[in-house]
Amino acid sequence: HLKDHTLRTVFDFPVGAAVVKELLDDPVYAATLKRDFGRLSSEGNFKWGSLQPEEGKFTFEKADAIVKFAQENNMQVHGHTLLWAHDGNEPKWIKEYQGDKQDWERLMKKHITTVLKHFKGRVQSWDVVNEGIKQGGKYVNSIWYRKLGPDYILKAFKYAHEADPNVKLFLNDYGQEYGGKKVKLILDIVDQAREQGIPIHGIGFQLHTVLRMEPWKINDNLKIFADKRLLIHISEFDVSVRYQMPKIFPLSDALARAQGDKIKQIVRGYMENVPKKQQWGITTWGVSDKTSYFNKGYENADHDYPLLFDKNYKAKWAYRGFIEAG
Ligand code: XIL
Repeated sequence: HLKDHTLRTVFDFPVGAAVVKELLDDPVYAATLKRDFGRLSSEGNFKWGSLQPEEGKFTFEKADAIVKFAQENNMQVHGHTLLWAHDGNEPKWIKEYQGDKQDWERLMKKHITTVLKHFKGRVQSWDVVNEGIKQGGKYVNSIWYRKLGPDYILKAFKYAHEADPNVKLFLNDYGQEYGGKKVKLILDIVDQAREQGIPIHGIGFQLHTVLRMEPWKINDNLKIFADKRLLIHISEFDVSVRYQMPKIFPLSDALARAQGDKIKQIVRGYMENVPKKQQWGITTWGVSDKTSYFNKGYENADHDYPLLFDKNYKAKWAYRGFIEAG
């Protein structure tokens, strides 16, 4: 009896959603979260530009509002993200920052320490580095990489652990489901961290994926990380129908059902390939197709329909597929 169940009641792991602070004021959005989601992440409110928009000036209001909403509704919080290694995502002042290697390291340490201490006991897990590795198995040539070298990743984890030893620390990235050199480098980094006694507790698979994705590929790569005894968080889950040709407006019933089936297979694959104790959970990147980040800002481009709820917050087949996996 699906009617009696929600995403919060059928899984042993939390099902999360990435939220946007302003949207919490929308009663339908808030009600959907309360009913179905046991963990919140955030699309942008925990990023550097939001928490430290100017050097030394920390602004926690929006992130705190999200944490408060979570606490009031008995939800966990996943922090996203301490460092975003892709260039262009740091606030302008960082790009213009002048300093030697020590200054850069101090800057990084101060941000990580201040943020983790602020949220101590209220945020259970963090993405420490986001998108630091390229698909071809090289480090992204980000500002952190240029200023501090490849070690910046391990240093960031070290500082985070020192600031709050109880928080679970994740290396978050995209495309691990395709395997190859990226996966190999991530595993190497995990090994290096272990040799140095620095905890990388888990791996975040963003898994912004598409309808034509073959679940076995995801499963094989989940298993590689699971065998490494890492926690595994599917951290930004959505399944876009975008590359389905011809494009269909609005979403046809057939595609909507296919999306539901695909989601069911993916969630099952997670449950079957990751041992229970390592299942940190699955977080969808948003709540409804209305505000999915894929659609934002692109006129006539809403052909992704990537999430579990439609524009009116009605549960789609995608939702049904997800819950049926449980
Ligand atoms: C995106 C947010 O969804 C947008 O609102 C923001 O403008 C840009 O960032 N991978 C990530 C996320 O790790 O941080 C990105 O979030 C989406 C892709």
